[in-house]
Amino acid sequence: MERPVKLGLLGLGTVGSGVYRILQENHEIICKRAGTEFEIAKILVRDLQKPRGVEIDPRKLTTSIADILEDPEISVVIELMGGLEPAYQYILAALERGKHVVTANKAVIAAHGARLIRLAASKGVDLCYEGSVGGGIPIIKPIRESLVGNRIEEIMGIVNGTTNYILTRMTQEKIAFSDALKQAQALGYAEADPAADIEGYDAANKLVILASLAFQTPISLQQVYYEGIDQVTLEDISFAQHLGYTIKLLAIAKRKPGGAEARVHPTFIPNEHPLASVNGVFNAVFVRGDAVGELMFYGRGAGDLPTGSAVAADIVDVLRNRLCGSHHRVETLWQPIPVEPVENVRTRYYIRLHAEDKPGVLAQIAASFGAEGVSIESMIQQGRGQDQPVPIVFITHEVEERQMRASLARISTLAVVKDIASVIRVEGVMS
Ligand SMILES: NC(=O)c1ccc[n+]([C@@H]2O[C@H](COP(=O)([O-])OP(=O)(O)OC[C@H]3O[C@@H](n4cnc5c(N)ncnc54)[C@H](OP(=O)(O)O)[C@@H]3O)[C@@H](O)[C@H]2O)c1
Repeated sequence: MERPVKLGLLGLGTVGSGVYRILQENHEIICKRAGTEFEIAKILVRDLQKPRGVEIDPRKLTTSIADILEDPEISVVIELMGGLEPAYQYILAALERGKHVVTANKAVIAAHGARLIRLAASKGVDLCYEGSVGGGIPIIKPIRESLVGNRIEEIMGIVNGTTNYILTRMTQEKIAFSDALKQAQALGYAEADPAADIEGYDAANKLVILASLAFQTPISLQQVYYEGIDQVTLEDISFAQHLGYTIKLLAIAKRKPGGAEARVHPTFIPNEHPLASVNGVFNAVFVRGDAVGELMFYGRGAGDLPTGSAVAADIVDVLRNRLCGSHHRVETLWQPIPVEPVENVRTRYYIRLHAEDKPGVLAQIAASFGAEGVSIESMIQQGRGQDQPVPIVFITHEVEERQMRASLARISTLAVVKDIASVIRVEGVMS
């Protein structure tokens, strides 16, 4: 009988423990599905004394990466440490030594994915990263394999559970951003330092991975425009509801003639769009392919067992590929295509400003929009402010970002306008 395939695990934190549990508890069924026996031979950690949430033979734990990289019997490395370094160096070294690699590390794949994919191909081994986007949601494999017959036209994703939780609480309970963030931290949904989530950086990393795969092009983080949710106010949420929209932090990639666009920002989406009803820490990725039409993938975007489920699926894939000598089944083309600067992006806008409540004000604002070719689809002017400035809200027709910026620059110079409080892009008109 063939000896068990030896796996080396790097990291035994949230996801590492989840993977370990799944591989232990479902061992028999996973072996049958993989077509081979396997065992976790070694686990790299920082602290050998730390209590672990799973029962583990302490002899399997090590603090030396060499115990895994230099063991020729370990043929599959599962990287679940997180962060760019030393995770990236360890993945490189594992691939160089002809080991298959499974990772959930969005930072490494977003920064170095193209190089790692080329290296894996040249070494004849697999590099799988289903857990890096959307936690337990299968999305990498569907894009890479199930949808290869399509030209993917568009991806729109809620790929950060922390920000979706905050926006959901703000919308449903009318609590301010800072209070919703505190709730998220108390429940363990947000880090003590929530900047990467709140500022859109985490979602931008995930968009790099999704857009690169969907458009088969090496998109870099520098090419993704991103904005966070810290400027979204209860006033904006209330106007969105009044107008029939929901505000979500969306990661958006669209194929354009001769190129692509990739951006992350708070977005008004119509309530009837499937992404509008994705609430709390749930994630969802909406994909439009030329043949298949519209699809939505929905589920838990983080957590030990959901992410562990995605990693376990990658491990089974690697084991099956190894068994039949058919690694790297799906060819990746990686043709460079230009990514549009955000100034060129065309979209609709929601604008909330405060202006004096007197005759002729609207005409001045409309003239400033008109001078830059921005046309208004709808408008709300609320109440009489007596001597106070009143809020005025506009939804525009589709316009280039540079035109919008130019019109807002004009409006900000008008004496009757006190401030431009919010500018949020509008997306998601269903065909
Ligand atoms: N958490 C989620 O829900 C989730 C969802 C999707 C993807 N991911 C991704 O999964 C990966 C792991 O995340 P996690 O939440 O499981 O992280 P975590 O809980 O912080 O666990 C990290 C593990 O790696 C070990 N480690 C870190 N740096 C090390 C080093 N230099 N040398 C040796 N061991 C080291 C730690 O050892 P000690 O235990 O000894 O400290 C710990 O066991 C990340 O790439 C993350 O982005 C996480």
